[in-house]
Amino acid sequence: MSINGVISPGISNKVNKSFENKIVAKNVGVVYNIRRANDAKIEKFEAVKDLSLNVRSGEFLSIVGPSGCGKSTFLDIVAGLHSGGNKGEVYIDGKLIKGPALDRGIVMQGYALFPWRTIQKNIEFGLEIKKIKKKERAEISKYFLELVGLKGFENRYPYELSGGMKQRVAIARALAYDPEVLLMDEPFAAVDAQTREALQFELLKIWEKTKKTIIFITHSIEEAVYLSDRVAVMTKNPGTIKEIIDINLPRPRDNGELRTSADFSLLRHRVWELLHEKEVENSKGKVSDQDVAEKISKHAAL
Ligand SMILES: Nc1ncnc2c1ncn2[C@@H]1O[C@H](COP(=O)(O)OP(=O)(O)O)[C@@H](O)[C@H]1O
Ligand SMILES: [Mg+2]
Repeated sequence: MSINGVISPGISNKVNKSFENKIVAKNVGVVYNIRRANDAKIEKFEAVKDLSLNVRSGEFLSIVGPSGCGKSTFLDIVAGLHSGGNKGEVYIDGKLIKGPALDRGIVMQGYALFPWRTIQKNIEFGLEIKKIKKKERAEISKYFLELVGLKGFENRYPYELSGGMKQRVAIARALAYDPEVLLMDEPFAAVDAQTREALQFELLKIWEKTKKTIIFITHSIEEAVYLSDRVAVMTKNPGTIKEIIDINLPRPRDNGELRTSADFSLLRHRVWELLHEKEVENSKGKVSDQDVAEKISKHAAL
């Protein structure tokens, strides 16, 4: 299945040298113009400040942070949906991002499916933009429908599907046009807990199969730790990266025992502490990342 070779209009030729990373964000800053309640005056509101982050090729990186800290704003920048007035730069494969392009698939919190299109036609949307022929489109959409466990649903409409199924379609649609990067903004926030765990498990299987680079935003510490190679914790406004935690848990990750293991709890607790801005201290002073890593048992090492 070859659906490559299409020019990405949102990419410039400005080249950055950091090729070992898929995505390089350098000192990103976003200031919004806001109007206060009962006040006509426009004020500047700094949503994101001096945010630098490298995402490795094929990595699963999650971002957690307090509500309103700028997670979605940052992801929009990577998606190329924010134009003008921002500070800093974001590169993908060493090329400056200047706008949206099909090298990045986006999965949002709401399902954002086209209600007037069947499931198959939803999945084929990006392929139509890529001018893939009808027969190949049908083959590709069939493959991804099966991959997300929705074989047989191709002629249904979004309103006929449950929340979890809709989110599967959204993932299939993003994967179908073969982006190298998946940008996911709280994609499972609207589904029930059981479906959410099932979707996490399926996403990991798909990620292992497709080798995409994923930036995944979530409110759930458990979800971030379960899925990720690294978890980036953001500060509250103006949002920037506070710390990045390596998740040295073995892969492939099962959906049962791992979540109740001591290593998992330790990592979850570490992210929780960072989010709650507590100083991690023991009698000797500050606990370093290395101290935390050493507490993780040998079988969980890289
Ligand atoms: N278009 C906008 N205009 C003004 N303020 C905005 C806009 N988008 C987001 N904000 C503000 O910027 C901050 C960061 O928003 P957002 O990136 O959505 O946060 P998060 O995704 O971390 O919850 C919030 O305080 C939000 O109210
Ligand atoms: Mg958000």
